[in-house]
Amino acid sequence: MKALILVGGKGTRLYPLTYTLPKPLVPIVNRPFIGHMMRRLSNYGITEVVMSMCYLPDMLKHYIESEDNFGMKVDYVIEDCPLGTGGAIKNAASHFNETFMVFNGDVLTDLDLGKMIDYHTRRGSVATISLAYVDDPTAYGVIDTDDNGRILRFTEKPAPDAVTSHHINAGTYIFEPEILDYIPPETEYSLERKVYPDLLAHKRPMYGYFEEAYWLDIGNPEKYFQAHRDIAAGYVSIDGLSFNEGDDVVIGENAVISPTARITGPAYIGDGVRIMDGVDLGPNVFIGRNSIVDSHSSLKESILWENVVIGEGAVLNRAIIGTSSRIRPAVYLDPGAVIGCNERV
Ligand code: GTP
Repeated sequence: MKALILVGGKGTRLYPLTYTLPKPLVPIVNRPFIGHMMRRLSNYGITEVVMSMCYLPDMLKHYIESEDNFGMKVDYVIEDCPLGTGGAIKNAASHFNETFMVFNGDVLTDLDLGKMIDYHTRRGSVATISLAYVDDPTAYGVIDTDDNGRILRFTEKPAPDAVTSHHINAGTYIFEPEILDYIPPETEYSLERKVYPDLLAHKRPMYGYFEEAYWLDIGNPEKYFQAHRDIAAGYVSIDGLSFNEGDDVVIGENAVISPTARITGPAYIGDGVRIMDGVDLGPNVFIGRNSIVDSHSSLKESILWENVVIGEGAVLNRAIIGTSSRIRPAVYLDPGAVIGCNERV
């Protein structure tokens, strides 16, 4: 089966991290998110992927090519201006003449794609949408289904007193090509707000697929950090990396850690990282390749990308620091600080 990955969004909720980097290249435990996703699709036997791009497409293309396309055939469809989730699918229509899958490019999940495909086929569905359960669905697209999974209603971001279901659109879809007839060409068009309600109005069979799977949209700093915490806790695993449960400290090659540094797991210390004397680090600290954490600094619940330098005595709590940024000595960063790439603070 072919897959379309929607990766055209600007990722504004992750600014300033995504000001110079497309969201799919944002690292999850030191490797670009899209890499984890591509390996997963390949492991499920998907052999052809279409990337629907708009924002900073060359960087993304360059990365995928540098990884030999993850062993798949990869095509690129680039929008001059954002066409929205529906318009983007229509724009890639020439690639799809049989059942195809669509993925939001910012969802970390271990959904069983094989079971979802089975479910779609057995029900004769035109559009199958993966569902996730959330306690508070008011910030999401909410989906009501009948007992057989057939979709009855969509409600975008319902008010608290209008919540009728805790199942939300989880961003993985299986479509029949028929869905393309419901999207006008070369028009900014939303899948969630226009295409789905229209299919429903035409009484086309649409189903919600729910499974007790891990699901997280990594699109804002809080969720991005949560993805790391959940990986470290073993709630979800990503290809090529495994934390043992609990307070594991994963240390990359050629990392140098002073014997006087105190490290509390879980933590990830990437290749070539240097941790100097008296550093107090962890829990839930993730440090990208070749970064330096200078003496007596304190880092808790924080993510550093590659080549970051943390000055002597600096204090970070729930901070995210972009590639090649430097935090000067004795700086205290307010909890939750997000620093873009190549910055000096
Ligand atoms: P925010 O600006 O932070 O809301 O992020 P975003 O621009 O990525 O939007 P959102 O998270 O709602 O997008 C969900 C998925 O659809 C992401 O994988 C986006 O890359 C993708 N997407 C959103 N809009 C477009 C678009 O106009 N074209 C394409 N090709 N993909 C899109």
